[in-house]
Amino acid sequence: MGHLNQRNIIIGVCGGIAAYKSAELVRLLQKQGANVRVVMTDGAQAFITPLTLQALSGNPVHIELLDTEAERGMGHIELARWADAIVIAPATADILAKLANGDADNLLTTLVLATAAPVFVAPAMNQQMWAQAATQENCDTLRRRNFLFIGPDAGEQACGDVGAGRMSEPADVVQTLNAHFPSRALEGLHIVITAGPTREAIDPVRFIGNHSSGKMGFSLARAAIDAGASVTLVAGPVHLDTPEGVTRINVDSARQMLSACENACSQADIFIACAAVADYRPVTVADHKLKKQGTSGLTIELTQNPDIVATIGQAFPNLYTVGFAAETQNVLEHAREKRTRKQLDLIIANDVGNNAVFGQDHNSVTIIGSELELHLPEASKLQVARTCVEALAKEYRRTH
Ligand code: PMT
Repeated sequence: MGHLNQRNIIIGVCGGIAAYKSAELVRLLQKQGANVRVVMTDGAQAFITPLTLQALSGNPVHIELLDTEAERGMGHIELARWADAIVIAPATADILAKLANGDADNLLTTLVLATAAPVFVAPAMNQQMWAQAATQENCDTLRRRNFLFIGPDAGEQACGDVGAGRMSEPADVVQTLNAHFPSRALEGLHIVITAGPTREAIDPVRFIGNHSSGKMGFSLARAAIDAGASVTLVAGPVHLDTPEGVTRINVDSARQMLSACENACSQADIFIACAAVADYRPVTVADHKLKKQGTSGLTIELTQNPDIVATIGQAFPNLYTVGFAAETQNVLEHAREKRTRKQLDLIIANDVGNNAVFGQDHNSVTIIGSELELHLPEASKLQVARTCVEALAKEYRRTH
């Protein structure tokens, strides 16, 4: 059984031609061992009957917000609490607008407001409707509120148009849900993760640093803990809470980070270098604040820092090492070269151009191994981290 076994999942079906795909989605989720309940909007019932979805889910279909029968059985608040996830598929332009607006005018919108569970949306609509600024702005609002988007795909549409707006295939929706819910893929393994920037002091008040927020590394730590690992997080200076269960070691400079990793890795199985380590540091650190000298400039001589991931890989040859490659040009090419040069088992290529990753909440990466090249589309850093953890666990188990 996969990660969806015994998960409680609500499928919200809206009124669109893609509603026929929700029948297949319900069937696939049942096959994965999930407990599925279906909520239909009025529009959805014009495309597919509640009876079909009742038969496939094995549960009564929920339709009315104010239904005395339903409230005696599983009322809307109870249903909202029951869910481990709500998946709205297909999600029409209308439901996206309602959700962005915070409406609670039908059972589905009310459930979304009343639940603490993650809400996934698989949009499906005409390509022009999808491209409209109103729809895109609604989607941006929902992404900011941590709604998780699946698709839409591009291609030929039922209306004859060609473009983006087709609902993702049910198998892809299931795959996204599988990636979201942690498995115990790293059970029994100890993982050391670096995160955040390093600071290289110039004088007592100035340093060389970078824009890393630590969000990606902390998300990896959380995903690894959820997957059953014990995790040591070596963190540069960031303002993030430590994920529950993680042992955190705070450092400032690259050399402190290396020293903390050398200690932690003697007991580790996997090392993930996500930190944005300063490649150079000042040769000398002034012991007093440097004063401005008239109108002349200032030259600071720099020396190279140790390469942490390469040093750790050499010191612990049995350790499974994973690096990141933050690149702005020829991303995959440079990442492959870095993997070879630093002798890493895996590298995660990260296109960091256009300020799209440092400090942001979303990311899109490509995982590269000797026999693997897996592109992960843009998603929240936690979602990306969970998929990375799944992929690396699979690779680790395949080779150990
Ligand atoms: O922290 P966020 O705001 O969430 O942003 C995430 C991130 C962009 C920092 C992260 O996803 C990322 O890409 N981290 C790697 C940043 C980096 O320094 O990449 P690089 O290509 O310069 O380095 C390659 C690899 O060598 C990395 O694994 C790095 O940790 C490691 N390295 C680099 C230099 C050095 N002296 N020692 C190292 O170990």
